[in-house]
Amino acid sequence: MIELRDVSHAYDGKTVLQGVNLTLTERRIGVIGSNGSGKSTFVRLLNGLLLPSQGQVLVGSLNTREKAKEVRRRVGFVFQNPDNQIVFPVVEEDLAFGLKNLKLPPAEIESRITEVLARYDLQAFRQHSSHLLSGGQKQLLAISGVLVMQPAYVVFDEPTTLLDLRNRNRIVQVIRELPQTVVAVTHDLDLLSDFERVLVFDGGRIVKDAPPHEAVPFYRELMAR
Ligand SMILES: Nc1ncnc2c1ncn2[C@@H]1O[C@H](COP(=O)(O)OP(=O)(O)O)[C@@H](O)[C@H]1O
Ligand SMILES: [Mg+2]
Repeated sequence: MIELRDVSHAYDGKTVLQGVNLTLTERRIGVIGSNGSGKSTFVRLLNGLLLPSQGQVLVGSLNTREKAKEVRRRVGFVFQNPDNQIVFPVVEEDLAFGLKNLKLPPAEIESRITEVLARYDLQAFRQHSSHLLSGGQKQLLAISGVLVMQPAYVVFDEPTTLLDLRNRNRIVQVIRELPQTVVAVTHDLDLLSDFERVLVFDGGRIVKDAPPHEAVPFYRELMAR
């Protein structure tokens, strides 16, 4: 469970998120809203990438303000652009980085990397240059780099925005199959069809919190005004 208590966030004194009180218990939570409505700010608060200007964010019993490192391990984060996430020049090095930081035994590191590459059909790319992968493969590598850390939650910030339809479909499938709890920011409203809960942001506030069959039409109406 992730809990936000009376959370606001300001950048340089300008408030961009306010009055957020939420308890997130569902397995699939979508976040939608216009550009600049506060979606990325919101999801960055969930894993301690950002600390709230006011209020508290709790992941289980861990306050992001106090337990940043543990929170980051629990809550994985996938960025829109995998180029911002892939750090190492070779695929397997990129996947090994976080695991080495955890000081896991080499055999464990090896088995997690082998497993994730097999799962996403990337075995042939193990020694490949990460930056030469296709856009879809890069996004899969970025997701793999998060999954090898075995987080309980995976947050996605517009994971399909930069992808063509084939790769978009692949990533949607990957997200559907994840056993983890997922929080996903998206403009891809079809992605949300099987989600349990959708938060609609407008001007830094949550203006609707409902299942997709209610939240999506509400959002369409809001954007048509
Ligand atoms: N690092 C930052 N510094 C200053 N302002 C920011 C920063 N990040 C976002 N903002 C501003 O905060 C508001 C919300 O941004 P963001 O959370 O990225 O919205 P969204 O993801 O919905 O497009 C916008 O007005 C944006 O310009
Ligand atoms: Mg954003």
